Amino acid sequence: LHPKRKKLWEEIGEWQEAFEKRLTDCIGKRKLSGKNIVSIDGLGRGEMDLIFDCTRLFKEFIVKQDRKINLLKGMSQVNFFFEDSTRTRASFELAGKHLSIDTINISKGGSAMDKKGETLNDTARTLDKMHADIIILRHSKAGTPMMIANQIKAVVVSGGDGWHEHPTQALLDLYTILEKKGKIAGNKVVIVGDIKHSRVAGSLIRALNKYGVEPNIAGPPTLIPFGLEKVFKCRVFHSLDDAIKGADVIYALRIQLERAAGADIPTVREYSKAYCINPARLLLAKPDAIVMHPGPINREVDLRTEVMDGPQSAVEDQVENGFASRLALLYLLLGGDRR
Ligand code: NCD
Repeated sequence: LHPKRKKLWEEIGEWQEAFEKRLTDCIGKRKLSGKNIVSIDGLGRGEMDLIFDCTRLFKEFIVKQDRKINLLKGMSQVNFFFEDSTRTRASFELAGKHLSIDTINISKGGSAMDKKGETLNDTARTLDKMHADIIILRHSKAGTPMMIANQIKAVVVSGGDGWHEHPTQALLDLYTILEKKGKIAGNKVVIVGDIKHSRVAGSLIRALNKYGVEPNIAGPPTLIPFGLEKVFKCRVFHSLDDAIKGADVIYALRIQLERAAGADIPTVREYSKAYCINPARLLLAKPDAIVMHPGPINREVDLRTEVMDGPQSAVEDQVENGFASRLALLYLLLGGDRR
């Protein structure tokens, strides 16, 4: 080896060793109790704190320093996406690759399920027999990740199921709140928009409730499930201006037109008049309030451009934290003594 390259390799080795030590110290005796992540319901507050602690470390060492590390070399990851995705799929794939996992992607259109009639169960069992270590699954039907997780040995992580839950989105969202506000409990959070069709809201409300945060939910009555406040700890508002007063965190959702949300509102224009986060509405929140959105964003409908690209927007932090938190999740699910 050329002395220059040898030195480089040694440096990388030392850096990796130092990072692994920080990681082991940070985790200590803690671990995730379950094999899979299919719902926020399956995670305790201690487990979520563990994920956030690791996310912080992965962000500092891997994301910010733009490094790859061979922590999970030899493992295989299948990103099984039966619905469109940009952020979730790309960040899981990049996170896998940054940890040296071998990753493959399967989408509905390219699999034998689409035209050849194979069932989801049989497809998943086939992948299991090829010894995939982890499957990230997004599906249009609620409960699909739970169903598959019970059939196969591989770890299953939900990348969003129907209108039900999107647990890893809630983890990156809570981490973003923690990072920006220094704490999760004690914040006044308002979630606005199409709650009915939103799996993001499904996981976010569950996760906030675990930290004692009872969010204000704002939207037209047709887009908020009846009796929501009896199932979760939250307050329902139909006036966004009332809901947003004094908020620390404003979380806007997309109108899910592909899920027939159009039938629940008169027109998108009417909706955005009442529920779009614009500069005047933002003034009703605390001066240091942050604005969040899971993406994809409909500009001028969910958020006004001035708000989306303004100083209070945490939307890009969410994307970066999504990458960091998925690195942490993959490591906690597959690394250490789980290998
Ligand atoms: C969301 C999804 O697909 O669940 N996006 C995401 O994962 N960040 C939300 C949406 O489509 O509106």
